[in-house]
Amino acid sequence: MQYASNDLTSAERYKVLTAFILPRPIAWVTTLGPTAVVNAAPFSFFNAFSEDPPLIMFSVNKRPDGRLKDTWLNVERTGQFVVNMTDEPLAEKMHQSSGDFPPDIGEPDYLELGLAPSVDVAPPRLAAAPWAMECKLWQVINVKDDRQLVIGEGLRFHIRDELWDPVAKRVYMDKYHPVGRMFADRYCRTDDRMLFATAEGPKAAASTGG
Ligand SMILES: Cc1cc2nc3c(=O)[nH]c(=O)nc-3n(C[C@H](O)[C@H](O)[C@H](O)COP(=O)(O)O)c2cc1C
Repeated sequence: MQYASNDLTSAERYKVLTAFILPRPIAWVTTLGPTAVVNAAPFSFFNAFSEDPPLIMFSVNKRPDGRLKDTWLNVERTGQFVVNMTDEPLAEKMHQSSGDFPPDIGEPDYLELGLAPSVDVAPPRLAAAPWAMECKLWQVINVKDDRQLVIGEGLRFHIRDELWDPVAKRVYMDKYHPVGRMFADRYCRTDDRMLFATAEGPKAAASTGG
């Protein structure tokens, strides 16, 4: 089976892409609205792309009726946001926060998600998130006026204490349970892990570079 990309509609392309490129990590992005309401929404066209500087990117499209999403409007106006990671206990609320809430209703408030202040940016982080990164806007790539690729530079990392060995700078994987996005409203757990050695030994596999 093969398709030329141009022979598919954009909805079909979305399916072909997201049905196979998975699981996808999820950025649960908190931003500040114009009336200081705290907005939270998940984005799974997301990943980290470099460590110097620490850059992440997520992609926000317009709603089917052409309305801009609050996250994009808030990032465009303030240049600041926080990327929060989602673990299993938070997953259902993360999913619920993707509803089409009016701009004056903050998802964290509505879903009773606690907030914690950020240090370098105004939008707070989600207090229960296992990991959060305060970001300032680094660059935006406008895709056909329908989608914004938001690239953020991480200014500060927050890590839940029990997840991290600060001396070895390692995560305790047995305690960290992030979820991934499969397709549509399906998610996966990440507990069933594999370890492979390279010819040089397992240390080589842990090297950086992406
Ligand atoms: C797991 C998950 C991932 C999502 N990923 C994206 C995405 O990558 N880009 C996007 O524009 N919308 C994505 N959405 C939909 C937004 O979360 C949704 O449109 C939300 O209402 C936007 O909220 P806002 O208006 O507060 O920004 C995703 C939804 C879910 C549940």
